[in-house]
Amino acid sequence: MAGQTDHALRGDYSQMRPDYTVLQDYSRYTPTEQDLWKRLYARQSALVPSFACDEFIEILGALNFGAGIPHFDAINAKLFPATGWTLVAVPGLLPDDVFFTHLANRRFPVSVWLRSPEEFEYIVEPDIFHDFFGHVPLLFNKVFADYLEAYGKGGVKAKGLDALDYLARLYWYTVEFGLIQTPKGLRTYGAGTLSSAGELPYCIQSPKPNRIKFDLLRVMQSRYKIDTFQETYFVIDSFQQLFDATAPDFTPHYVRLKQQADIAANAVITDDKLVKL
Ligand code: PHE
Ligand code: CO
Repeated sequence: MAGQTDHALRGDYSQMRPDYTVLQDYSRYTPTEQDLWKRLYARQSALVPSFACDEFIEILGALNFGAGIPHFDAINAKLFPATGWTLVAVPGLLPDDVFFTHLANRRFPVSVWLRSPEEFEYIVEPDIFHDFFGHVPLLFNKVFADYLEAYGKGGVKAKGLDALDYLARLYWYTVEFGLIQTPKGLRTYGAGTLSSAGELPYCIQSPKPNRIKFDLLRVMQSRYKIDTFQETYFVIDSFQQLFDATAPDFTPHYVRLKQQADIAANAVITDDKLVKL
């Protein structure tokens, strides 16, 4: 995940380069961490066939990184030829402008540290398991990869227009928690759901949350919560739809959004097209 946090960050930011990247230093991972990785991977990959979109399922199977914490270099040797993206190792969450600049240049920041065994069920801050399992597979998809680059460029621009909060919501409700309609039914492509044992079935099966057809302005108007399962998910029909809907210049959108009130994370409004289970 990206974005602001109000507690102290967990990573070690003392050794980083000016662009916030670090060495992965693979020897630092302990046997306990390797074991935790295998358990996290085994549990999530068993859920994926029922709840993830096909694009994710296929690439996850081909990459097959469940035997231990992945080496970024080994994945980059496959990823760069596929879509021109490169994983870069980082200490943890990044300042917005640093994060956007990496994305705009097709570099995806992945945190180097792994959660503790006590956080097997739930973690708020993105660790290497979330970043890797949740985000890396779809970087192999050409349309999604182009969307993320465009998002990074849009971020640099939004900062100048004082509109970062709006753009952050788009990331949250697509890249982190987006659902997609598929021939197999409703599935998820959002990294925050894909890396969570609880929320992966929940986002698809629970009758509790709202599921609303994706609408760009509606998404950017909507607040979100970072420490509970989501109360609302937005549903796209295809990655191409997402790419096309976000291609136009957002400058007039930001002007409009600033004149309107935000929408609460759990609200449904009259214009919403609800997706029924
Ligand atoms: N079209 C957006 C803009 O002009 C950039 C963008 C693309 C933002 C894709 C998000 C996702 O700001
Ligand atoms: Co994430």
